[in-house]
Amino acid sequence: MIFISDFLVIGSGIAGLSYALKAAKHGTVHVITKKDSAESSTNYAQGGIAAVFSPTDTFDSHIQDTLIAGDGLCDLEAVTQLVKEGPERINELIEIGVKFSERNGEIELVKEGGHSIHRILHAKDLTGKEIERALLAATTEDESIQVFEHRQAIDLITEHHSGGVMKDGHPTCFGAYVLNPDSGKIDIFLSKITYLCTGGAGQVYLHTTNPGIATGDGIAMAHRAGATVGNLEFMQFHPTSLYSKTRKRFLISEAVRGHGAILRNKTGERFMEKVDPRLELATRDIVARAIDREMKQSGDDYVLLDLSSLPAEDIKDHFPNIFQTCLKEGIDITKEPIPVVPAAHYMCGGVKCDLDGKTAIRNLYVGGETAFTGVHGANRLASNSLLEAVVWAHRSVEDAVKVLPDLHFQTRKIPEWDDKGTTNAEEWILVSHSFNEIKTIMWDYVGIVRSNLRLERAQRRIAFLSKEVDEFYRRTRLTPEIVELRNLVLVASLIIECAFLRKESRGLHFTTDFPGKSDENPPVNTVLL
Ligand code: FAD
Ligand code: SIN
Repeated sequence: MIFISDFLVIGSGIAGLSYALKAAKHGTVHVITKKDSAESSTNYAQGGIAAVFSPTDTFDSHIQDTLIAGDGLCDLEAVTQLVKEGPERINELIEIGVKFSERNGEIELVKEGGHSIHRILHAKDLTGKEIERALLAATTEDESIQVFEHRQAIDLITEHHSGGVMKDGHPTCFGAYVLNPDSGKIDIFLSKITYLCTGGAGQVYLHTTNPGIATGDGIAMAHRAGATVGNLEFMQFHPTSLYSKTRKRFLISEAVRGHGAILRNKTGERFMEKVDPRLELATRDIVARAIDREMKQSGDDYVLLDLSSLPAEDIKDHFPNIFQTCLKEGIDITKEPIPVVPAAHYMCGGVKCDLDGKTAIRNLYVGGETAFTGVHGANRLASNSLLEAVVWAHRSVEDAVKVLPDLHFQTRKIPEWDDKGTTNAEEWILVSHSFNEIKTIMWDYVGIVRSNLRLERAQRRIAFLSKEVDEFYRRTRLTPEIVELRNLVLVASLIIECAFLRKESRGLHFTTDFPGKSDENPPVNTVLL
């Protein structure tokens, strides 16, 4: 089938839904999303959204904190745009019904690592769920927006498919091929403008705070279509996820440390005292590496997050979700410390775009965690991600409406997807094993501490898996898992490629072969063309 709209939005997290609501004022909008519409990283965001709301805060302070966290690689213009436009975008979220937590009738602002002041708006420890709820409610009410759940974009449609000639050497995006897992068919979604916002890529790693959707689909699709990607070596490892032998990693928000919780090793030592004067509220790269070092030196499987200085009622009031989830795991956090370990959390790089979200592909914009806007540099400041998503969504719509009247649907025939191939149930085991292999290789060799030897080993193994996955992809009828596997292995190889290119340690990228920063001035971002 062929579906036609002015705007095609791929993803229904904060970036996609914010964009859809604004685009709907200018044309028809199709949102496709690969699971239920709420299933996204957005829905699990805990700590909050950072912005200058306090009368004692300043734009300059938020800008400086972001630049310091980014360790020399942030784009000042992008950071300035983020910080200065942030409060207005947050007020729009409040207008559509997002209810942030209040104290004494005022919005309550809390603190997280790297922030020099309390500046994070939150909804208890369920900020993302509240934002996603309000955005979905507003989207549902808007008749110009049609949301298609359980539709998975496979590839962007460009001249490569239509047989047309590229203008000025740059491809144009005409929409996407989209898998409908219920019918097994691949539909064509045509659009004048495509907004790519499929979230992050935490699933590339064995241990991650990210939900299953975060398989790097957008980065992989854009790269295959000819967009520029970069800074993929900067995968942010969140210092504190709940350690468990059986369950997947659950985030213990940085806001818990912002509220006074202390990190200790099993002997009770407050090890951050040896590391950074900001202690537990140093930036994430520093805290995650310190925990990794403690665990390696002691041989312990985790360190402890000690909340004993916080009153029990305060913990339950501020962190009801964390309290309940830990209780289900047999840990009463009002009485005992939480065993924590770092886990892959946020992709700071992505598909390169400008201040309006424009990519190297004509009519393709990118937003949210998929985008590499220049805001985060080598390490993202806590709670700047939700903010970046709303600021760039707004900018991208503003830019798109300037060109929309001159755009036409692609009239050249877009070929139907060739879905020849066989489904062989016996081969399913190959898919699930390949997933685990990729994730384990990346965790073991491309994790918090890297070296050339480890990267080389990872590269050889991922190259071998890429070949296997490619052969499998070609001879098998597509399923959501195969589409994800193809993307996961590509993103893994791109992360390794970026990591090799960085001959220094900076921000989230630490390698024992180049333990210091290079003296290149100014420091460079990594780009893969
Ligand atoms: P997402 O919210 O991940 O949405 C991506 C969407 O794309 C989903 O709907 C998904 O189904 C869809 N999709 C993916 N692939 C395809 C495909 N091939 N076809 C169709 N649809 C597809 N940031 C903060 O600023 N503050 C916080 O407090 C915070 N807490 C966090 C806590 C957790 C546990 C996690 C995991 C992240 C947290 N982050 C936080 C980061 C932040 O939540 C994310 O970076 C942000 O929500 C990303 O929004 P997004 O719209 O780009 O992507
Ligand atoms: C957290 O609550 O610690 C996550 C915040 C973020 O990723 O910005």
